[in-house]
Order: sequence, then structure tokens, then C-alpha cells
Amino acid sequence: MTAWRSWVLTVTAAEAAGFAVPAGVGALTAGSSPAVSVPALLAAGAVEGAVLGWGQAAVLRAVLPGFPAGRWVVVTSAAAVLAYVVGLAPSTLAPVWADWPPGVLVPLAVLLGLVLLNSIGVAQWRILRRLVPRAGRWIVVTALAWLGGLAVFLAVSMPLWHPGQALAATVGIGLVAGLLMAATMAAITGLTVRRLAPHHGRLRERTSRRRDGVRPGRRSRLERSNGPAPRRRRMVTVGANCTRRPSAAGYARRTTMTVLVAYGTAGGGTGEIAGWIADELRAAGLPVHLMPAGEVTDVADYGALVLGSAVYATGWHSDARRFARRFAGRFADRPVWLFSSGPLDTSADDGPLPPGRHAAEAMRELPARDHVTFGGRMTSEAHGWLGHVARRMAREGHAGDFRNPQRVRAWARGIAGEIPPPR
Ligand SMILES: Cc1cc2nc3c(=O)[nH]c(=O)nc-3n(C[C@H](O)[C@H](O)[C@H](O)COP(=O)(O)O)c2cc1C
Repeated sequence: MTAWRSWVLTVTAAEAAGFAVPAGVGALTAGSSPAVSVPALLAAGAVEGAVLGWGQAAVLRAVLPGFPAGRWVVVTSAAAVLAYVVGLAPSTLAPVWADWPPGVLVPLAVLLGLVLLNSIGVAQWRILRRLVPRAGRWIVVTALAWLGGLAVFLAVSMPLWHPGQALAATVGIGLVAGLLMAATMAAITGLTVRRLAPHHGRLRERTSRRRDGVRPGRRSRLERSNGPAPRRRRMVTVGANCTRRPSAAGYARRTTMTVLVAYGTAGGGTGEIAGWIADELRAAGLPVHLMPAGEVTDVADYGALVLGSAVYATGWHSDARRFARRFAGRFADRPVWLFSSGPLDTSADDGPLPPGRHAAEAMRELPARDHVTFGGRMTSEAHGWLGHVARRMAREGHAGDFRNPQRVRAWARGIAGEIPPPR
């Protein structure tokens, strides 16, 4: 089953089941005072959010390594409560707002609508952004999905609901409309789930044109600098939603030893260091793919990894951090080396520096054999905020290029010696 189909079936079932709780509570408390109905509906909304989050997490944990299912359920539930607070506000506070002028009411309604549609997407994005590149699209797609889902719900339920109807009819109409709302929302969000998890087994077959895990639009530029893509191996589909990683024996049998050199950079200095490393590995006869960490979508066909990052405020660049989280555990059978580029002095060349917090995390997550710190570069020619900071640091005497190509290249030659040559 594809991730999209699995997502649509599971999420539709979860949302429809979850929605049955507020639908039932709403019908039962229809004649009650807001002091009773509002808290009851908010509690029911929390249950709906938790069940929806649980269904989504069941699919996502199978396609995203390291996916925090428990946290996903909690934030989805909290966001659903916020959506219910906003959704109930117009009717609950109608007496308060009745006399407000349209100039205030219209912008307020737009604001509340935006909060309602974006609450779940924003809450979930805070988790996804640590796991996948360009997670921001999840907010937009989720908002559109709920807009579509709510439109379907209203289009089905409003013409059928009548005052004085039997309770069973009211609940039945709500449940059918809720099921269609859930299916609409799941189908739309499912389109993005497919893109969030491109290394899913079945999806790999569908996206086989992404030969080395690079998005098609960027292929030609990278191909020019990287040479031919590594030969594809088939990923073994184990269950509906998971693919088996190659075993240690699989590593020994690997026929391609293409080394992935990935990097996170803001000012370009770390990208250049990665380029020097790639040059040395190629000179040692190894095929190399050099690319920004944020552009890598699949790592199955690489025989080894070098991951590097610029250091800002003691932390790694977000592209490198996310790379380590996205592919946590995926290199258990392949050698990995890490490097950081930061110090704007000669300290990196004076003796080994301990890995910073993100480098240490990445060492555990991937896992990695070794980490090294190289000097950094701060050039006043940088653009944007970096240029602004660099010019200020230059005035204070801190700017300059403290990278040491000889040391970088010697380190890369050491790595090349540890990677078996292609057969
Ligand atoms: C705002 C700012 C914060 C920085 N913080 C650190 C730091 O905490 N530790 C460090 O070693 N280097 C730090 N640096 C230096 C950068 O890591 C260094 O300039 C690096 O070469 C930048 O790499 P890039 O050109 O690939 O972005 C900082 C630089 C800037 C501009």
C-alpha cells in the first residue's frame, strides 16, 4: 500500500472516529447553557485531536525515522482545543460582539478564521521541521485541507439538519458529514505526506526518476558537478509502510561506494570545505556526490557519508541538524564522519576541540565514527544579515578566513583510506 493510501484510510478513520465524540457531545448539550456545553465541547475536541494525531502518527512513524508519535498526539490535541475555542467563539460571545462595528468584526473574523485553519498545521509543523526539509508547506496544506473538509461538512449537513429533528437523525447526519469531512482532509494532506517521506519503499518506485535522491528540478545542476548517480538497488518492502535497511552483510556486498558529502552553510565557507573534501575523495578514486544537506532526500545508495556544518551561536546550521534527524539510524551499517566549521581564530588548528551539542547529537543519531572542527570564515563580502554581522566583526577585528585547506584535505585523505574502493 502506498503512503498516500495508507494515510487516507487511517487518517479518515481516525478523524471520523474522533469527530464522533464532539458530534455526540454537541447533540447532547444542544439545549444546555454555555457553562455546560462549552467545557464539554472543548474536552471532546481534545479527544478528537488526540485520536486524529494518533492516526496520523501511526503512518508517519513508519515513514519518518525518529518520529515522536507521543508528542505529535499531544500537540494535535492541544491545537484541536484551540480550534474549538475559536470555532465556538462566535456563538458563545455573540451577545458581547453584537454591537461592534463591521470595521472591527470583519478583521476579527478573518483573524479567527486564520487561527482556526492554521492551529493544527502550525502545531504539527513545529515537530515536522526537525525531521524534513521545507516542512512549512505542511501548514499551508493542512489549512487548505481543513478549509475543504469544513466546506464539505457544511455543504452536507446544513441542508439536512432541521430544528426539532430526532436526536438520532441529527447525530447520524453529523457522523456522515464528519466522515466526508475527514476523507477530504485526509486526501488533501496525504498529497504532502507523499512528498514528506520520499524514501518510503513504494514511493521510491514511483519516484525512480529522482535517481540519487535529488529533486528533479535541481538534477542537472548537481549532475554537472557530481557525475553519474550511484547505481540503484531495490529497497525491500517489508510491511505496508516500512522498508528494510540493508544489513551489515548488505554493506559488504555493496557495489557502489559513492560517498555523500553533505553540508549546512549560510555564508558558503563550509560548502567550500565540503568541496575540498570531495576533491580529495575523488582523487583517491571514490565516486562522490556533493550537495547541500537540505537537498538530500534519500541516502539508501550511498556507501559512506561526510556531513559538515557551519556553527552559529554554538549550534549547527538547521540543514545539517535536520539531515541528522531525518536519517537517524540509517547509517548504522555505513561509515560516517562529521565536521564543524566555526572558530574565527586558530584554536581549531591548535588541538582537537570537542564536538558542540548538535555535532554530539548527530554522532549518536547517525551514528558517526569521528568528528573534527575546522576553522571558519567570516567575510565582509557576505550578503544580508551575515554581511551586516561580518562588517561589524571586521570592525572589531574578528573577521577573516581561518580555514586551513591543508588540514581539511589531510583529514579527507585519512577518510579515503578507510573507505574500501569500488569493486
Ligand atoms: C552570528 C554568528 C554566530 C557565530 N557563532 C559561532 C559559534 O558559536 N561558534 C563558532 O565556532 N563559530 C561561530 N561563528 C562563526 C561561523 O561559524 C563561521 O563564520 C563559519 O565559517 C560560517 O560558515 P558558513 O560560511 O558556511 O556559513 C558565528 C558567526 C556568526 C556570523
